[in-house]
Amino acid sequence: MSAGGAFAPPAPLRQPDRTMSTGFNSAYALELDRVSRAFGALRAIDEVTFSVAAGERRAVIGSNGAGKTTLFNVVTGDFPATGGRVRLFGEDVTELAPHERIRRGLRRTYQSSLLFRELSVRDNLYLAARGVARGRFSLRRPAHDDGARRAAEELLSHARLAHLADTRVSELAHGQQRQLEIGMALAGAPRLILFDEPAAGLSPGERAELVALLTALPRHIGFVIIEHDLEIALRVVEKVTVMHNGRVLKHGTPHEIENDAEVQAIYMGEHGYTHH
Ligand SMILES: Nc1ncnc2c1ncn2[C@@H]1O[C@H](COP(=O)(O)OP(=O)(O)OP(=O)(O)O)[C@@H](O)[C@H]1O
Ligand SMILES: [Mg+2]
Repeated sequence: MSAGGAFAPPAPLRQPDRTMSTGFNSAYALELDRVSRAFGALRAIDEVTFSVAAGERRAVIGSNGAGKTTLFNVVTGDFPATGGRVRLFGEDVTELAPHERIRRGLRRTYQSSLLFRELSVRDNLYLAARGVARGRFSLRRPAHDDGARRAAEELLSHARLAHLADTRVSELAHGQQRQLEIGMALAGAPRLILFDEPAAGLSPGERAELVALLTALPRHIGFVIIEHDLEIALRVVEKVTVMHNGRVLKHGTPHEIENDAEVQAIYMGEHGYTHH
């Protein structure tokens, strides 16, 4: 299918974007069209519509229970939408299983329990590189795979963990484990990564390292980051989406959002942030 005339440029800031492209090589990494997810009577997200351009870096912020994680679950397919359509790179994936979405270049970070704690940092990344190449992890002792070895070295550098390549995961600090999870998510040519509160539980020094890592990610990889720490969220993205009660409240640049009275009242008030 040709993407030709179906292209639409990313919508200007602060304007609702209702354009849905039809080509598989879409200018958009992600398009949500009136997406809802209900849990019984509760509408965790309610007719959410917005798009993320290919390669764009976006923050999603909002108070507890706003529906941010549910939004990620609907995008990954872990909890499929109960209404509306989800497109990845121009392709409608609303009915696809999570692994089919992973095959199309979607990743999300997981909790550290998914790391192999008794293996080194390098070996974890090697297994991620192999697992993605084969579409699954192999339980058998791996034969040599030079492509995956080279990929692991590259992932070490992207995760800023080259100096800890031979360290066992169980000996890493919490922040270093989170960095490794991001490194694992980078295996196998991702095009869009969803980070759900990657700074949770990190020390100030680890937060600075996380910002450096996110900022230095390859530019063609877009990401969406849910983050309560606005010092991080607003520093690493070009555009911010604010959610409230399952709906999109507004979009804006980090500067606009930081200075938005409504956002301050709803978001910062509830969290007791005292920036000034
Ligand atoms: N699996 C589930 N079953 C039932 N209700 C759920 C489920 N997942 C989320 N919810 C509800 O949906 C609403 C949105 O939750 P969600 O986890 O998406 O919020 P959030 O914005 O990520 O909040 P937080 O900032 O606390 O992580 C909440 O009321 C929550 O209790
Ligand atoms: Mg959440």
